[in-house]
Amino acid sequence: MSEWIEVCATDCIDEEDVIRWDHDSRSFAIYHTKKGFFATAAYCTHQQADLEDGVVIGAVIECPLHQGRFDIATGKALRAPVRIDLATFPVKVEGGIVFINI
Ligand code: FES
Repeated sequence: MSEWIEVCATDCIDEEDVIRWDHDSRSFAIYHTKKGFFATAAYCTHQQADLEDGVVIGAVIECPLHQGRFDIATGKALRAPVRIDLATFPVKVEGGIVFINI
């Protein structure tokens, strides 16, 4: 069963940035882009680098280890060496709070 869970206030993530958020032994990457907030799995599908240490470039996250890229909104793998898409999760903002549906 999925449920909406509070992550943090909107101002806890700078625009064009990403944080790792841990919940119930699972980890997620939460992004703040010019198009809003998004969530994906926390670790790169190539060699499990922590995407929190990556670079947000518009709607794309660049992995810190080998510079593979993913579309933040869809999780789609965009640039080698990544070939497997990231899982994505619905996000909403209500009353200045970011929620994720997991
Ligand atoms: Fe992310 Fe290699 S671990 S591109």
